[in-house]
Amino acid sequence: METIAILGIGKLGICFALNLERSGYAVLGVDISPAYIETVNRKTLRSFEPRVEEYLLESRNFEATTSLHEALESEAEMFFVCVATPSTPGGGYDHYQIDGIADQLEKFGPNPNPRHLVIVATTMPGYCDELSARLSPLNWRVSYNPEFIAQGNIIHDQQYPDQVLIGEADEIAGQKIEAVYRQMCKNEPVFCRMRRLSAEICKIATNCFLTTKISFANSIGDLATLVGAEPDKILQAIGSDSRIGGKYLGYGYGFGGPCFPRDNRALGKFARDAGYDLLISEATDEVNRRHLDFQFQLWMDNFKEDQPILFDYVTYKKDSILLIESQQLALAEKLARAGRQVMIREREVVVEELRARYGELFQYLILEEKV
Ligand SMILES: NC(=O)c1ccc[n+]([C@@H]2O[C@H](COP(=O)([O-])OP(=O)(O)OC[C@H]3O[C@@H](n4cnc5c(N)ncnc54)[C@H](O)[C@@H]3O)[C@@H](O)[C@H]2O)c1
Repeated sequence: METIAILGIGKLGICFALNLERSGYAVLGVDISPAYIETVNRKTLRSFEPRVEEYLLESRNFEATTSLHEALESEAEMFFVCVATPSTPGGGYDHYQIDGIADQLEKFGPNPNPRHLVIVATTMPGYCDELSARLSPLNWRVSYNPEFIAQGNIIHDQQYPDQVLIGEADEIAGQKIEAVYRQMCKNEPVFCRMRRLSAEICKIATNCFLTTKISFANSIGDLATLVGAEPDKILQAIGSDSRIGGKYLGYGYGFGGPCFPRDNRALGKFARDAGYDLLISEATDEVNRRHLDFQFQLWMDNFKEDQPILFDYVTYKKDSILLIESQQLALAEKLARAGRQVMIREREVVVEELRARYGELFQYLILEEKV
C-alpha cells in the first residue's frame, strides 16, 4: 500500500487525508498541535464538516503525527502541503507556513530518490517556482495542485471535482498527481495540466470570475429594486441562457468567506505588481461594498424603527460556521449600530463567537440543528 503524507491537516487537509485513505492509500498526516493530533489519532475529533467524524472513525490506515521528520523517514514519495496561507494587508498571501516546512526540508537534506512536494495551499503566482528553485537541488519536485472545494461540502467536492488543476513540476510529476486523483475521485474530472505559474493564476482567476458573477447579479438586482422591477425574475432569465448559467447569479448578500474575497484581491495585487491594471478585480470588490450599503439603506427604509430584524444565520453561508468577511454579519452589525434591534438565530458555537466579539450588540437565539 502506497503511503502519502499530508502536511497540514486542518479544514482542507483532514478531508483530503480521509478521502485518500478511503481510496486505498496509507496516509500520514502531519500537523503542529499535539492536542489536535491526539484527537485525530484517538478519533475523537469534532468537526462541522459533513462525514469527517464518520470517515475518521472508519479509517484504518490514517495516522497523524507532529513530526515532519517521521514523514520524511517514511516510504512516502508524495507530500501534499495543506497549511494555511493567510492574507497580507496588501492583499497577497503570507507563505510563512510553507517556508517553515521548506526550512525543515533543507535541514533534513537531499532525498536519495526524487520526491514530490505538491502545494495544495493557495499561493501567490510565482511562489511555487521560487520554492522549486530552492528545493529542487535537494531532489524535491515541486508542483501546485489547488482544490476547488466549498466549506460545508469539502469531502464531497474532493470526491466529485469538475476539474483537477495541476501545475506540474514536469511530465512525471503531473502523471503521478493525476494518478492519485484518478484513484480518489468518484467521477471523471477534467485534468487541467499546465505550468506552475499558470495554475497559480488559474486558481485565483476562477474565484475572481465567480465573485464577478455575484457582483454582477447583485448590481442588476440593486438596479432592478431601485426602479421597481423584479430582480429575481430578471436574474433567473439571464441565468437560463446556457452561455451564462444560473449558478452564483442569485440576488442576495455579497460574497464573503475564506476564499472568494481574498483570491479576487490577490489576483488584483498580482496583476498590479506585474504592471497590469486588472480593473475587474477592483470593481468586483467595490461593487460588493456598495451592495452592502444599498442593502443597509433598503432595510433601514423597509423596517420600522421599533421593528426587530431577524437574521436566520450570519455566517458567510448557511452550511458553514465561519464568520470571515460575512456580508450578512456586516449588514446585521451596520443595522444594530444604527440603533435597530437585531436578533440573530445561529448555532451555539457561532453565538459564542458573536458574543465574544460583539457582546450584547445583538440578541441571540440558539439554533439547535448541527450543520
Ligand atoms: N478550507 C477551504 O475551504 C479551502 C478552500 C480552498 C483553498 N484552501 C486553501 O488551503 C489552505 C489550507 O486551508 P485550511 O482552511 O485547511 O487552513 P487551516 O488553517 O484550517 O489548516 C492549516 C493547518 O496547517 C497546520 N500547520 C501550520 N503549520 C504547519 C507545519 N509547519 N506543519 C504541519 N502543519 C502545519 C495548522 O496547524 C492547521 O491545522 C489555504 O491556503 C487555503 O487558502 C482552503
